[in-house]
This record gives sequence, C-alpha cells and structure tokens, in this order.
Amino acid sequence: MSNIVRQEYNISGTQRQAQMGHGALLVWFTGLSGSGKSTLANAVEQKLHAAGVHTYTLDGDNVRHGLNKDLGFSAEDRTENIRRIAEVANLMLDAGLVVLSAFVSPYLKDRQAIKDVVGAEGFMEVFVDTPLEVCEQRDVKGLYAKARAGQIPDFTGISAPYQAPEKPDFRIDTSVTGLDESANLLTELIMTRVK
Ligand code: ADX
Repeated sequence: MSNIVRQEYNISGTQRQAQMGHGALLVWFTGLSGSGKSTLANAVEQKLHAAGVHTYTLDGDNVRHGLNKDLGFSAEDRTENIRRIAEVANLMLDAGLVVLSAFVSPYLKDRQAIKDVVGAEGFMEVFVDTPLEVCEQRDVKGLYAKARAGQIPDFTGISAPYQAPEKPDFRIDTSVTGLDESANLLTELIMTRVK
C-alpha cells in the first residue's frame, strides 16, 4: 500500500454513534452449521430493532452468495471469508451500527483476527454451543447426511475441525435454552454494552 495515503474525513465514528443515540458493537455468533446462530441472531435483531437500535445482520449463507461467492471451505478460504466479513463489519461499526454476524468461523485464530480489526471494546463473542449430535439430528439443510456420505469435503464437525471459544462473552446451548429466553438474555447483555 506504499502509494496509498489515508484520506481524512471530518465526521467521525463517534459523531455518527452520537447521532444514532447508541454505541456501535459487533456481536459475533460462532458455532456449528445448524447450531441456531442465524435463528438467534434474527430473534435478537428483532428485539434490538423494536428497542430503537440501528442494526444490520451479516450471515454466512447469504454473504457466500455475493461478496464471498468465490470462496470455498478450505481453511485458507474460511480465513479469507472471515477476514472480509471483519472488514465489512468494521465499516458498519464506523457507520454507528450494531452488527450481528452469523458465521461458523471454526478457527480460533480467525476469530482473534476479527478482534484485532475491530478492537476488543467493539467486539462481543457469542458461542452457540449446540452439540454436534443435535445439529446433525436437526439437519435442516440436509448437509450432515451428505457430509457423512462423503459428498461434502471439509464439513465442519464431520471432516473439518471446530475450535470452540475458550472465554466467549455469552454461551448458549439451543437444545437446553429456548429461543425466546436466549434472545432476551443476549439482547439485555447487548443493551448494557451499547447504551
Ligand atoms: S465459515 O466456516 O467460513 O465461517 P460460513 O458460516 O461462511 O462458514 O458458511 C457456513 C454455511 O455454509 C453452513 O451453514 C452450511 O450451510 C454451508 N456449508 C457448505 N459446505 C460447508 C462445509 N464444508 N463446512 C461448513 N459449512 C458448509
């Protein structure tokens, strides 16, 4: 980037947040496919929206149809997937939003790298810790059956690793705690960080 100089603009992230009336935060959901990340993010976004919080949700299955449609599921491609999302989320934080982000994001180092991009104070890690057996039994998209049959290589939990967060800000097992209760608890926690 030797020939590129950063351009300064006069409206800062802090000013945008002040106009929004709340802080900016990246709420990062990580967990196996089918663990309930998107469902929980969706429920939390509705509650935040109803409370007047400005939000946006980034979702793996959606982003991979557009921005990241050139990426697969090798460790390198997943790293690039998460890197781009972190950069996009960082722009959204600068815009003053509360960003919810639902990606399997199975590697510790990739999740650490998000924190390095957005800063620890703007980052909240949510571990959707639904056991593999439950995700596989749900198999909403039929992908676990395909992965077991050897039709999907590098499938997280089956033929590729999932590295669980050691100290998430919030942990939920959706096979134990109901959606509404989880969403209420997490929404409360987010509100304490952005108000
Ligand atoms: S990540 O690992 O790079 O963070 P991401 O969240 O974007 O993954 O995409 C995961 C979604 O892609 C899953 O919910 C599932 O529907 C689908 N998928 C397709 N192939 C795989 C695979 N090999 N491993 C995991 N998920 C896969």
